[in-house]
Amino acid sequence: MDRITIRGGNRLSGRLQISGAKNAALTLLPCALLTEEKLTLTNLPRLADVDGFGHLLNELGVSTTVRRGQGDLIGREMTMSAKAIASTVAPYDIVRKMRASILVLGPLLARSGEATVSLPGGCAIGNRPIDLHLKALEALGAQIELTAGYVRATAPSGGLRGGRINFPVVSVGATENALMAAVLAQGETVMENVAREPEIVDLSRCLVAMGAEIEGIGTDRLVVRGKTSLHGAEYEVMPDRIEAGSYACAAAMTGGDLFLAGARIEDMEAILAGLREAGVTVESQTDGIRVAADRRPSSLTLSTAPFPAFPTDMQAQFMAMLALAEGTSVLTETIFENRYMHVPELARMGADIQVHGRTAVVKGVEGLVGADVMATDLRASMSLVLAGLAAEGETRVHRVYHLDRGYERLEEKLSAVGADIERESDS
Ligand code: UD1
Repeated sequence: MDRITIRGGNRLSGRLQISGAKNAALTLLPCALLTEEKLTLTNLPRLADVDGFGHLLNELGVSTTVRRGQGDLIGREMTMSAKAIASTVAPYDIVRKMRASILVLGPLLARSGEATVSLPGGCAIGNRPIDLHLKALEALGAQIELTAGYVRATAPSGGLRGGRINFPVVSVGATENALMAAVLAQGETVMENVAREPEIVDLSRCLVAMGAEIEGIGTDRLVVRGKTSLHGAEYEVMPDRIEAGSYACAAAMTGGDLFLAGARIEDMEAILAGLREAGVTVESQTDGIRVAADRRPSSLTLSTAPFPAFPTDMQAQFMAMLALAEGTSVLTETIFENRYMHVPELARMGADIQVHGRTAVVKGVEGLVGADVMATDLRASMSLVLAGLAAEGETRVHRVYHLDRGYERLEEKLSAVGADIERESDS
């Protein structure tokens, strides 16, 4: 297995291109199931999860063609064609490796009248149920059965029909599944208390480009007028706000100066506000954001919550930054109950962090020291890379496959701006 080795202490500076957003890609890919025509996605990040999703689509009978991206964008383009759906089953072997596979449930059901998807099960950042996905599909007339680890959804004869969905908890995935089903349901669907994350806006815009009728995009209430069919389209995946936020932390922690090419300020306001409050310089420039720091960050009090508030996917990276801040910070995680797996690993590098339930108290220290570390999820792994970039000596981050799920060409991008980082093989 590979590991990432970092010799810390280098100041990062220069231009770093932000890739297409993983979480947007993972909800745009299943849109291919909604039409007989071709859907082309551009600016797709080169990530293990995107490849995995491509394989899942192949399994369902979707043909995929991948090309190199054009122009400045470093990602890929994928054209998908779901002329006919060959299978409506998303098998255990694929779903267990990639939770986002659950996002084929809504579109398969809407297009084929049935879908069988392995239950994703728990995962490292807590017990992640799918009850809200299922309730939303039931509100559109689906019958749901749970058997032998699979969820089987069936549409009434004549197909799904519009309905009212009021989400008791804001859920990104459930909003996505419901929206992808509602665009092909008969009549109007009103969805209240939906997630407003920029990735949902991206999904809505792609669906509109495919002929869907959606009102209220970007708000917490969506009204969808269902169509009998959607058509093909070409759509560019939005830039990854979490990747950009992670590299912004790298600049802040190394006294660096990075231009995050392609990052969009409007997607990242809570993240950028947090950085500014920590004393980091953040400037909006044409086609990107400049982030620079010339002193230790200051401490912060932050709480994660659905967009537009501070994202849970940035909590671990901010914790790494605040581990080096002047003063004591307080972070509260309100989305996932078990998302502090990085704390003991950061502590092994010299961080002073106490967790009390959902709250972490981070007493800033003057320096971290390199160590062998590993994490059990993607963003936690990134927090260890960040700590390694700022630490004295060598840090080896193990279980690199987590990073490969979400950060395109991590070592290459960081080396190009001055980091001493390389990938090595454990064997
Ligand atoms: C998505 C993101 C993930 C991010 C998360 C929150 C993707 C592929 N993943 O995950 O990176 O951290 O949003 O911004 O886009 N919940 C239920 N029942 C459900 C669904 C969710 O109780 O049926 C709860 C979850 O346990 C959690 C909260 O709702 O406490 C929010 O989760 P949700 O927004 O659904 O996260 P994901 O879509 O899984």
